[in-house]
Amino acid sequence: MDNKTEKKVVIAAEHLFFSYHQMPVLQDASFEVYEGEFVGVIGPNGGGKTTLLKLIMGFLSPVSGKIEIFGQPAGSQPLGSIPLAYVPQAMRFDRDFPISVEEVVLSGLLSHLPWYGAFHKRDKEAAAQALDEVGLSEYSRSAFGTLSGGQAQRVLIARALVSKPRLLLLDEPTASVDSKAEADIYAILKKLKGQMTILMVTHDLKAAIDQVERILCVQKTLFSLEPNEVCDHFAVGLYHPPLIQILQNNKNKGL
Ligand SMILES: Nc1ncnc2c1ncn2[C@@H]1O[C@H](COP(=O)(O)OP(=O)(O)OP(=O)(O)O)[C@@H](O)[C@H]1O
Ligand SMILES: [Mg+2]
Repeated sequence: MDNKTEKKVVIAAEHLFFSYHQMPVLQDASFEVYEGEFVGVIGPNGGGKTTLLKLIMGFLSPVSGKIEIFGQPAGSQPLGSIPLAYVPQAMRFDRDFPISVEEVVLSGLLSHLPWYGAFHKRDKEAAAQALDEVGLSEYSRSAFGTLSGGQAQRVLIARALVSKPRLLLLDEPTASVDSKAEADIYAILKKLKGQMTILMVTHDLKAAIDQVERILCVQKTLFSLEPNEVCDHFAVGLYHPPLIQILQNNKNKGL
Protein backbone atom coordinates (compact mmCIF):
# COMPACT_ATOMS: atom_id res chain seq x y z
CA MET A 1 0.00 0.00 0.00
CA ASP A 2 1.53 3.34 -0.90
CA ASN A 3 1.52 6.40 1.32
CA LYS A 4 -1.38 8.12 -0.36
CA THR A 5 -3.83 5.26 -0.14
CA GLU A 6 -3.28 5.15 3.64
CA LYS A 7 -3.88 8.87 4.01
CA LYS A 8 -7.28 10.41 4.58
CA VAL A 9 -8.78 12.21 1.62
CA VAL A 10 -9.55 15.86 2.44
CA ILE A 11 -10.73 17.05 -0.99
CA ALA A 12 -12.05 14.74 -3.69
CA ALA A 13 -13.24 15.98 -7.08
CA GLU A 14 -14.63 13.69 -9.76
CA HIS A 15 -15.35 14.73 -13.32
CA LEU A 16 -15.98 18.28 -12.25
CA PHE A 17 -17.41 20.70 -14.83
CA PHE A 18 -18.03 24.36 -14.10
CA SER A 19 -19.16 27.29 -16.30
CA TYR A 20 -19.93 30.92 -15.58
CA HIS A 21 -23.12 31.36 -17.57
CA GLN A 22 -22.22 29.71 -20.89
CA MET A 23 -18.45 30.07 -20.50
CA PRO A 24 -16.76 26.80 -19.51
CA VAL A 25 -14.03 27.30 -16.90
CA LEU A 26 -13.32 23.80 -15.59
CA GLN A 27 -13.80 20.69 -17.69
CA ASP A 28 -13.63 17.15 -16.39
CA ALA A 29 -11.35 17.92 -13.45
CA SER A 30 -10.67 14.97 -11.14
CA PHE A 31 -8.21 15.03 -8.25
CA GLU A 32 -7.74 14.21 -4.58
CA VAL A 33 -5.88 16.06 -1.84
CA TYR A 34 -4.75 14.09 1.20
CA GLU A 35 -4.51 15.03 4.84
CA GLY A 36 -1.32 16.89 5.72
CA GLU A 37 -0.27 17.55 2.11
CA PHE A 38 1.06 20.92 0.96
CA VAL A 39 -0.20 21.32 -2.60
CA GLY A 40 0.53 24.19 -4.98
CA VAL A 41 -2.05 25.24 -7.55
CA ILE A 42 -0.62 26.84 -10.67
CA GLY A 43 -1.93 27.78 -14.09
CA PRO A 44 -2.31 30.74 -16.44
CA ASN A 45 -4.40 33.83 -15.63
CA GLY A 46 -8.05 33.01 -16.00
CA GLY A 47 -7.27 29.28 -15.93
CA GLY A 48 -9.79 28.69 -13.13
CA LYS A 49 -7.65 28.57 -9.94
CA THR A 50 -9.77 30.96 -7.85
CA THR A 51 -12.90 29.32 -9.24
CA LEU A 52 -11.58 25.96 -8.05
CA LEU A 53 -11.10 27.33 -4.50
CA LYS A 54 -14.65 28.71 -4.57
CA LEU A 55 -15.97 25.30 -5.62
CA ILE A 56 -14.02 23.66 -2.76
CA MET A 57 -15.58 26.11 -0.30
CA GLY A 58 -19.03 25.57 -1.77
CA PHE A 59 -19.43 29.23 -2.82
CA LEU A 60 -20.05 27.90 -6.34
CA SER A 61 -21.73 24.66 -7.39
CA PRO A 62 -20.47 22.43 -10.18
CA VAL A 63 -22.53 22.14 -13.38
CA SER A 64 -21.84 18.41 -13.20
CA GLY A 65 -19.52 16.01 -11.43
CA LYS A 66 -18.89 16.11 -7.72
CA ILE A 67 -16.62 17.70 -5.20
CA GLU A 68 -16.38 16.57 -1.60
CA ILE A 69 -14.59 18.09 1.33
CA PHE A 70 -13.97 16.03 4.49
CA GLY A 71 -16.30 13.42 2.98
CA GLN A 72 -19.27 15.77 2.53
CA PRO A 73 -20.44 17.42 -0.71
CA ALA A 74 -18.90 20.93 -0.88
CA GLY A 75 -21.49 23.53 0.13
CA SER A 76 -23.72 21.03 1.96
CA GLN A 77 -22.63 22.21 5.44
CA PRO A 78 -22.50 25.73 6.89
CA LEU A 79 -18.99 27.05 6.27
CA GLY A 80 -18.42 27.75 9.98
CA SER A 81 -18.86 24.05 10.77
CA ILE A 82 -16.09 22.92 8.39
CA PRO A 83 -12.49 23.12 9.67
CA LEU A 84 -11.42 25.19 6.70
CA ALA A 85 -9.92 28.67 6.39
CA TYR A 86 -9.31 30.85 3.36
CA VAL A 87 -6.89 33.67 2.63
CA PRO A 88 -8.42 35.44 -0.39
CA GLN A 89 -6.58 36.82 -3.41
CA ALA A 90 -5.28 40.43 -3.21
CA MET A 91 -7.21 41.81 -0.30
CA ARG A 92 -7.74 45.54 -0.75
CA PHE A 93 -8.64 47.43 2.36
CA ASP A 94 -9.52 50.95 3.29
CA ARG A 95 -6.54 52.21 5.27
CA ASP A 96 -8.78 54.54 7.26
CA PHE A 97 -11.18 51.84 8.37
CA PRO A 98 -10.91 51.80 12.19
CA ILE A 99 -10.13 48.20 13.02
CA SER A 100 -7.24 46.83 15.05
CA VAL A 101 -5.02 43.93 14.06
CA GLU A 102 -6.50 41.85 16.89
CA GLU A 103 -10.04 42.56 15.64
CA VAL A 104 -9.10 41.45 12.11
CA VAL A 105 -7.74 38.18 13.51
CA LEU A 106 -10.82 37.67 15.71
CA SER A 107 -13.04 38.14 12.66
CA GLY A 108 -11.80 34.65 11.69
CA LEU A 109 -13.88 33.41 14.65
CA LEU A 110 -17.14 35.19 13.84
CA SER A 111 -18.95 31.86 13.65
CA HIS A 112 -17.98 31.34 17.36
CA LEU A 113 -19.36 34.71 18.44
CA PRO A 114 -22.06 34.16 21.08
CA TRP A 115 -25.42 35.96 21.00
CA TYR A 116 -24.20 38.61 23.44
CA GLY A 117 -21.59 39.63 20.88
CA ALA A 118 -18.36 39.58 22.91
CA PHE A 119 -15.47 37.24 22.25
CA HIS A 120 -14.52 34.84 25.00
CA LYS A 121 -11.13 35.03 26.74
CA ARG A 122 -10.06 31.81 24.98
CA ASP A 123 -10.83 33.42 21.59
CA LYS A 124 -8.56 36.33 22.45
CA GLU A 125 -5.88 33.87 23.53
CA ALA A 126 -6.29 32.04 20.21
CA ALA A 127 -5.91 35.39 18.39
CA ALA A 128 -2.74 36.14 20.36
CA GLN A 129 -1.37 32.71 19.50
CA ALA A 130 -2.20 33.13 15.80
CA LEU A 131 -0.47 36.51 15.74
CA ASP A 132 2.54 34.94 17.40
CA GLU A 133 2.63 32.25 14.69
CA VAL A 134 2.97 34.94 12.02
CA GLY A 135 5.48 36.93 14.11
CA LEU A 136 3.28 39.98 14.70
CA SER A 137 2.41 39.77 18.42
CA GLU A 138 3.53 43.29 19.10
CA TYR A 139 1.12 44.70 16.50
CA SER A 140 -2.02 43.37 18.18
CA ARG A 141 -3.33 46.83 19.08
CA SER A 142 -2.12 48.63 15.95
CA ALA A 143 -4.60 49.91 13.41
CA PHE A 144 -4.75 47.38 10.57
CA GLY A 145 -4.50 50.18 8.00
CA THR A 146 -1.08 51.28 9.26
CA LEU A 147 0.60 47.95 8.42
CA SER A 148 2.74 47.31 5.35
CA GLY A 149 1.28 45.11 2.62
CA GLY A 150 3.36 42.12 3.74
CA GLN A 151 2.39 42.55 7.41
CA ALA A 152 -1.26 42.92 6.44
CA GLN A 153 -1.04 39.68 4.49
CA ARG A 154 0.47 37.93 7.54
CA VAL A 155 -2.42 39.24 9.66
CA LEU A 156 -4.82 37.70 7.15
CA ILE A 157 -2.97 34.41 7.51
CA ALA A 158 -3.34 34.75 11.31
CA ARG A 159 -7.06 35.40 10.75
CA ALA A 160 -7.22 32.12 8.87
CA LEU A 161 -5.19 30.24 11.52
CA VAL A 162 -7.19 31.46 14.51
CA SER A 163 -9.97 28.94 13.88
CA LYS A 164 -7.37 26.12 13.92
CA PRO A 165 -8.31 24.84 10.46
CA ARG A 166 -7.48 21.38 9.17
CA LEU A 167 -7.51 22.76 5.62
CA LEU A 168 -5.93 26.09 4.72
CA LEU A 169 -6.65 27.59 1.29
CA LEU A 170 -4.49 30.49 0.13
CA ASP A 171 -5.03 32.39 -3.12
CA GLU A 172 -1.74 33.95 -4.22
CA PRO A 173 -0.60 34.96 -0.72
CA THR A 174 2.60 36.58 -2.01
CA ALA A 175 1.21 38.26 -5.13
CA SER A 176 1.42 41.88 -4.02
CA VAL A 177 4.28 41.88 -1.50
CA ASP A 178 8.02 42.53 -1.77
CA SER A 179 10.63 39.78 -1.67
CA LYS A 180 11.36 40.12 2.08
CA ALA A 181 7.65 39.83 2.90
CA GLU A 182 7.39 36.92 0.49
CA ALA A 183 10.21 35.11 2.32
CA ASP A 184 8.44 35.78 5.66
CA ILE A 185 5.21 34.29 4.31
CA TYR A 186 6.95 31.20 2.95
CA ALA A 187 8.72 30.75 6.32
CA ILE A 188 5.31 30.77 8.05
CA LEU A 189 3.92 28.23 5.58
CA LYS A 190 6.98 26.04 6.02
CA LYS A 191 6.28 25.89 9.77
CA LEU A 192 2.63 25.03 9.12
CA LYS A 193 3.54 22.29 6.66
CA GLY A 194 2.39 18.92 7.98
CA GLN A 195 0.24 20.47 10.73
CA MET A 196 -2.68 20.93 8.35
CA THR A 197 -3.54 20.38 4.69
CA ILE A 198 -2.51 23.41 2.65
CA LEU A 199 -3.65 24.31 -0.84
CA MET A 200 -1.88 27.39 -2.16
CA VAL A 201 -2.54 29.10 -5.48
CA THR A 202 0.63 30.76 -6.71
CA HIS A 203 2.14 32.27 -9.83
CA ASP A 204 5.56 31.91 -8.28
CA LEU A 205 6.56 28.64 -9.78
CA LYS A 206 10.05 28.62 -8.31
CA ALA A 207 8.61 28.94 -4.80
CA ALA A 208 5.98 26.37 -5.59
CA ILE A 209 8.58 23.86 -6.68
CA ASP A 210 10.73 24.54 -3.60
CA GLN A 211 7.91 24.47 -1.07
CA VAL A 212 5.21 22.08 -2.10
CA GLU A 213 4.95 18.30 -2.27
CA ARG A 214 2.65 18.25 -5.27
CA ILE A 215 1.36 20.64 -7.88
CA LEU A 216 -2.09 20.84 -9.40
CA CYS A 217 -2.04 22.61 -12.73
CA VAL A 218 -5.36 24.23 -13.61
CA GLN A 219 -5.81 25.09 -17.24
CA LYS A 220 -9.47 24.36 -18.03
CA THR A 221 -8.84 20.79 -16.95
CA LEU A 222 -6.58 19.85 -14.10
CA PHE A 223 -3.57 17.62 -13.74
CA SER A 224 -1.36 16.69 -10.84
CA LEU A 225 2.42 16.81 -11.04
CA GLU A 226 5.32 16.14 -8.73
CA PRO A 227 7.46 19.29 -8.39
CA ASN A 228 10.37 17.68 -10.25
CA GLU A 229 8.12 16.86 -13.23
CA VAL A 230 7.00 20.42 -13.81
CA CYS A 231 9.75 21.66 -16.10
CA ASP A 232 9.91 18.44 -18.10
CA HIS A 233 6.19 18.44 -18.51
CA PHE A 234 5.99 21.96 -19.81
CA ALA A 235 9.06 21.46 -21.95
CA VAL A 236 7.08 19.09 -24.15
CA GLY A 237 4.74 21.78 -25.29
CA LEU A 238 2.17 22.93 -22.77
CA TYR A 239 2.28 26.68 -22.85
CA HIS A 240 2.78 28.73 -19.74
CA PRO A 241 4.82 31.92 -19.95
CA PRO A 242 6.45 31.82 -16.49
CA LEU A 243 7.42 28.19 -16.99
CA ILE A 244 8.84 28.88 -20.37
CA GLN A 245 10.86 31.68 -18.79
CA ILE A 246 12.25 29.37 -16.12
CA LEU A 247 13.17 26.80 -18.73
CA GLN A 248 14.86 29.50 -20.78
CA ASN A 249 16.77 30.79 -17.72
CA ASN A 250 17.84 27.27 -16.81
CA LYS A 251 19.03 26.72 -20.36
CA ASN A 252 20.99 29.96 -20.29
CA LYS A 253 22.63 28.86 -17.05
CA GLY A 254 23.46 25.52 -18.65
CA LEU A 255 21.16 23.57 -16.29
N1 LIG B 1 -18.05 35.86 -11.31
C1 LIG B 1 -17.67 35.60 -12.57
N2 LIG B 1 -18.53 35.72 -13.60
C2 LIG B 1 -18.17 35.43 -14.86
N3 LIG B 1 -16.93 35.02 -15.21
C3 LIG B 1 -16.01 34.90 -14.23
C4 LIG B 1 -16.32 35.18 -12.86
N4 LIG B 1 -15.22 34.95 -12.11
C5 LIG B 1 -14.25 34.55 -12.96
N5 LIG B 1 -14.73 34.52 -14.24
C6 LIG B 1 -13.97 34.07 -15.42
O1 LIG B 1 -13.67 32.69 -15.25
C7 LIG B 1 -12.34 32.40 -15.69
C8 LIG B 1 -11.55 31.80 -14.52
O2 LIG B 1 -11.38 32.81 -13.53
P1 LIG B 1 -10.54 32.57 -12.22
O3 LIG B 1 -10.66 33.80 -11.41
O4 LIG B 1 -10.95 31.29 -11.60
O5 LIG B 1 -9.07 32.40 -12.81
P2 LIG B 1 -7.67 32.36 -12.07
O6 LIG B 1 -6.97 31.12 -12.58
O7 LIG B 1 -7.86 32.50 -10.61
O8 LIG B 1 -6.95 33.65 -12.68
P3 LIG B 1 -5.86 34.63 -11.99
O9 LIG B 1 -4.53 33.92 -12.12
O10 LIG B 1 -5.90 35.83 -12.87
O11 LIG B 1 -6.26 34.91 -10.58
C9 LIG B 1 -11.78 33.72 -16.21
O12 LIG B 1 -11.96 33.73 -17.61
C10 LIG B 1 -12.64 34.78 -15.54
O13 LIG B 1 -12.73 35.91 -16.35
MG1 LIG C 1 -7.32 33.91 -9.21
